[in-house]
Parts: sequence; structure tokens; C-alpha cells
Amino acid sequence: MSYAPPRAASVEKARVLASAHRHVIPGRVTVFNALGIDLVMGRREGYRFSDVDGQEYLDFHLNGGTFTLGHRNPELLGVLRQALETLDLGNHHFPSAARTALAELLTRLTPGNLQYSVFTSGGSEAIDVAIKSARYATGRRTIVALENAYHGRTGLSGAAGDAATAMLFHSDNPVEFVRVPFEDLDAIERALRREDVAAVLMETIPATQGFVTPSPQYLPGVKTLCERYGTLYIADEVQAGLGRTGHLWGVDVWNVKPDILVTAKGFSGGLYPIGAAVLSARAGAWLAEHGWGHPSSYGGAELGCAVAQRVLELCSDAQNLAHARAISEHFAAGFRDIQQRQPFLRKVHRQGLVMGLEFDSPSGGVDMMKALYDRGLWAIVAGFNSAILQWKPGFLVDTAYCDLALERLEAAIEVAKRLPKGSGTRFVSNGRSDGAARAAAGR
Ligand SMILES: Cc1ncc(COP(=O)(O)O)c(C=O)c1O
Repeated sequence: MSYAPPRAASVEKARVLASAHRHVIPGRVTVFNALGIDLVMGRREGYRFSDVDGQEYLDFHLNGGTFTLGHRNPELLGVLRQALETLDLGNHHFPSAARTALAELLTRLTPGNLQYSVFTSGGSEAIDVAIKSARYATGRRTIVALENAYHGRTGLSGAAGDAATAMLFHSDNPVEFVRVPFEDLDAIERALRREDVAAVLMETIPATQGFVTPSPQYLPGVKTLCERYGTLYIADEVQAGLGRTGHLWGVDVWNVKPDILVTAKGFSGGLYPIGAAVLSARAGAWLAEHGWGHPSSYGGAELGCAVAQRVLELCSDAQNLAHARAISEHFAAGFRDIQQRQPFLRKVHRQGLVMGLEFDSPSGGVDMMKALYDRGLWAIVAGFNSAILQWKPGFLVDTAYCDLALERLEAAIEVAKRLPKGSGTRFVSNGRSDGAARAAAGR
């Protein structure tokens, strides 16, 4: 696929795009360029951002929830500025007040009995820590994960994700990383029965599959099977956690108590990179045995800890959680109204603010992504289901903002429903560039 510089772009925008194509992310630039999406972010504030040429967008991508509290949230900026007066990254060899305060808060706010926090610089690394911990605790190697899952792209997290991308880097390992279909408890039991499985790794609401809400019995069923066969349950809450479901953690919706919970993205407040694997006493026993089992110079940087602590406070606040649930209902009513006129919006998957909009075309998610982009709203297609558009409103949005988004949604449907069905599919499911497009989409 070739790259054609956009015709209407300013000199500055064209320069950045060309440089990104030459020096940074050629595959992504090319895939988006072929769709007519040549975004270079400029100003950003709250739940809106502009591209460098001044076009404003409502942000319904939030980079997977990284900006769930808004871009440059003033309260979080204040915390970071204050922390910069006295702190820096800190030295990870030694105890630190910022890290212990955050770890204590995580223990208090996570379900079940999670005792330890291993801080990382992002979600992929935290998934690696979760897998290492489960292997240590059980003395087993196998990890069971969903087909077409995304848990990051570092060594172990990448091996647990979709096979095609793991194969690209010769890091696929089908013996140690077993994939099962979503909602298939029998497949999980068949895998666990061999009693060599260290952990089931499960994103609570799989983003790349379009945020399809698990059935009421699925996640509790997985947990029961884990207990039966001595396997640990790792909850990847990188996108579903931090209030986005209307509960602090996605697993709280189904009352599942994981052995390991992973958080990242929004944990950073969109300002300072940080992730965490929160471990039960059993999963984290290696921390006592080997003090340097996972040193990370930037993991748990003290500046990030200060921001993340306030993020947790805001995301666990009862009023904010009630607000998120009310916004979800507001959208539900808006979607029902649109569906009466627009059957092209075939199905809504919704748990709190975690939403996937399924359209009546195999490429509906791609076509809608582009049609909305042209109307000043940025939302991204689900990486492994191009019929579904991920719809991720911010945690603190107001109803006027939602109504504007609903207006733009219907206007975009008017355009996308007239396109030949499947017209955009090639951008997300076409051989080798498949991987690039999928990697570009859905997070
Ligand atoms: C569900 C999930 N897990 C893990 C990750 C990896 O996080 P990071 O990009 O911070 O490494 C992501 C990122 O998109 C994700 O969506």
C-alpha cells in the first residue's frame, strides 16, 4: 500500500506526516492515509482535541481509555505540577512514600485479597509481570487466553495475543499460549483439565472484539474453573477498569475476584506513564524470594504514582461512578431513538461507558470511523471485528456533549449506510497489512 501525502494539509502537517512515515510509524501512516485519515494532534483539552490544522474532534477513542478523565485534566495537572516541585522518578531499589501510598490504595480498592503491586511503565509490561507471577506461583507454564485478544506487544503479552502478530516476530508459541474462543467455557475446561495451566488471561470486556459484553455466567464460570484446576485468573482491566463500566473495576460487575488485576492507560491520567499488576499473596510470593525479580527503572516513577493516586480517587468516587452510569443510560436512549430511523445501527453492546456499535455491514466500523472523522468525531473500529465501532465516551462528559455526539453519529450513518457493504474491510483484514491495520485499529 503506497502513501500519498494529503492534498489539503498545511505545510506543517504534511511535514509531520512525511517524517512519521519516514522515521516513526510508516505502516500506521499508510493505513490511515489510505482511509483518508491524516490526523496529527494539536491542541487538546477535556474531551476535545484539534488537529494541527485546527479541525476540532470530539474524542470517543480516548486512546483506549488513557484520557478517560479528559485531556490535560486540570486537577491531575495540578497534582503533577505539585509533585514536580519535590519529586522525580525516584530510585526503584528503595522504598518510596509515593509508591507505598499508591500500593496501599490499590489493595484497598481492588476486589478480593490482592496484597502486592508491581508498578510498570505501561500495560504490556504489567501483563508480562502478571504472567511471570502466575508461572512462579503455580510452577506451570501454559497461559490460556482468548482468540484475537490484545494484551500488549512486549514478549509475554505479545505471545498471548493474536497469533498473526506474534508470528511476525517469531515469538508465537502455541504450546505455551493456548487460545480459546470467547464465551466457550467448555474450551477453557478442556485446556485446564490437563492441569498444566498457570493462568487464564482475560480482558474483562474484550476491546478488540468490539466490547461485546460477556454473558452473566461467563466470567464467574471462568473463575470457578480456575479454582477447580489450580489455575490463576488474570483480569486485564487496562480498558475495562477505572470506572468505565460504571463500577471501579470491570470484574466488579460480575463479582469476580481475580488473583491478579492489571491496570494501565487511564491509570496514567493521560499525563505520566504508569501501569500496575496487583497480585495476591500467592501470586506475589516471588517478591519476597527474589527482591530483583522484576526491577524497572521507570516502573512506579514517583511522579506517576502521585497522578495515579488521584486518578484512583476520582474513578472510585461514588458520585462520579453514578454519573458514568447515568451517561450510559443517556446514550442508550439516544441509540434507541436513532435505531428507529436507522436500522444500519444493528446492535449496541454496552456496559457503562464501554460500548461497541455494531453496524449492518462487515466494514461498518471502518466506514463509520471515516464518516465520523469527516464530521468532527474520532472513534476507532474494533481491531478484530470491522463491523463494530468502539464508542468510548469520557468518564466526566456532560449530556450536551453526548447529544452533539449523537447528532454526528446519525449524520455519519446517513453516509456510511449508502456505501457498498464491506467496502472498508480491506483496511482491516487484508493479508500482511492486516497486522498493521489491526494494530492501528482498536486500541
Ligand atoms: C486490554 C489491553 N491490555 C494491555 C494493553 C497494553 O498496554 P500498553 O499499550 O500500555 O502497553 C492494551 C493497550 O492497548 C490493552 O488495550
